Amino acid sequence: MENKKKSYIETYGCQMNISDSEIVASILETLNYESTSDIKTADLILLNTCSIRDNAEQRVRNRLNELHSLKRKRPGLIIGLLGCMAERLKDKLLEEERHIDLIVGPDGYRQLPQLLEQVESGQKAINVLLSADETYADINPVRTGGSGVTAFISIMRGCENFCAYCVVPYTRGKERSRNAQTIVKEAKELFENGFREVTLLGQNVNSYNWEENGDKIGFPALLEQVALVSPQLRVRFATSHPKDISDELLEVIASHENICRSIHLPIQSGSTRTLEMMKRSYTREWYMDRIAAIKRIIPDCAITTDIIAGFCAETEEDHLHTLSAMREVAYDYAYMFKYSERPNTIAAKKYPDDVPEEVKSRRLDEIIAMQQELSLKSNKLDVGKEFEVLAEGVSKRSDQQLFGRTSQNKVVVFPRSSYNAGDYVKVKIIGCTAATLKGELLTV
Ligand code: 5AD
Ligand code: SF4
Repeated sequence: MENKKKSYIETYGCQMNISDSEIVASILETLNYESTSDIKTADLILLNTCSIRDNAEQRVRNRLNELHSLKRKRPGLIIGLLGCMAERLKDKLLEEERHIDLIVGPDGYRQLPQLLEQVESGQKAINVLLSADETYADINPVRTGGSGVTAFISIMRGCENFCAYCVVPYTRGKERSRNAQTIVKEAKELFENGFREVTLLGQNVNSYNWEENGDKIGFPALLEQVALVSPQLRVRFATSHPKDISDELLEVIASHENICRSIHLPIQSGSTRTLEMMKRSYTREWYMDRIAAIKRIIPDCAITTDIIAGFCAETEEDHLHTLSAMREVAYDYAYMFKYSERPNTIAAKKYPDDVPEEVKSRRLDEIIAMQQELSLKSNKLDVGKEFEVLAEGVSKRSDQQLFGRTSQNKVVVFPRSSYNAGDYVKVKIIGCTAATLKGELLTV
């Protein structure tokens, strides 16, 4: 048999990128590449990059510097950049980073065979065309990482919300939904292969909309179809935009036990004035109405969020509104960031980035401290309760312990006994930190 070449993909940024890397790995397999986790043996190194904040890009630049020396030692090595940074900087990157051979944007992965051929013939290769309809619907991703228990399914691509701070509409292009049948088929195959949890992914999943032969399938209907694959298959989704999280969707979640009780609903700011400048298209009151609907329709639902500290013109009063909104919702978990101006976004063009760095840092620290308090409080409320946990693997701290997640997406560590990854295990919570629950077995 012909010797296989080895590819190594390093993924930065969001879950979408993890999913895209699995699509890329699948395309590379058809080119006689097999994935390796040992970068030193790789013939092809791809960085799947993120542009969401400046520090995400800096991390990739630093990595590229390290790879430079690897390339000097092995001149035949091919180095490529994929994803959002490739899309944002295009051929500028080839000038700035001379040892890069290949640049491919998020909609160009099908061109990899031709592009790699070009590189092998001694030229640089680039494809950063965005597409109106590429969804990679027919490509069966290679599940490279993970434990074989949980998997991502990409259901839509792109974003047209144009939040003022955000680079994504420019790097990932127009919103488009993937054929529903291929999504359900992928979920079925994953289940048959032993997976027990799928996360449906898109920049804005509740805008999902697929039309075929006059039939329209929106996100609630799609979610239900995936939930019906098996009661033993957990279903999650991310991310939802508050503007269109409907009661219909919440009712679908409530009526299927295997749709997880966890909603990620980025608020970004608790100040209506700031939200307006961010072009988020909802007010604080609208957002709180959606939170009330979640708590009414799915009372045991965990709620998580994204928050940006120090957006343009944010005053101390705006910041206090964010802290009070966090307390009002009592988030179970939050991803928290300092505002980072991204070139060419609406905010970059319209508003000065005028909150001083030390003020941004102090506000972010206050937001993190608030969330720490809320997460601990939320976890303490779980002590004494019973949960069904999907085991995902052996705990990092001890091989006598497994870790897994509750439907609410909280991590639980519990005794291994004779359980394995992929098992559903009934546990009682006996302790916690702000980050983890500790459980004991209810059934042995
Ligand atoms: N600066 C800081 N945070 C940002 N996010 C998006 N763009 C920026 C930016 N320019 C955050 C938002 C989003 C999450 C994925 O990243 O909170 O929901
Ligand atoms: Fe980063 Fe956003 Fe691109 Fe994901 S979509 S890789 S978070 S810039």
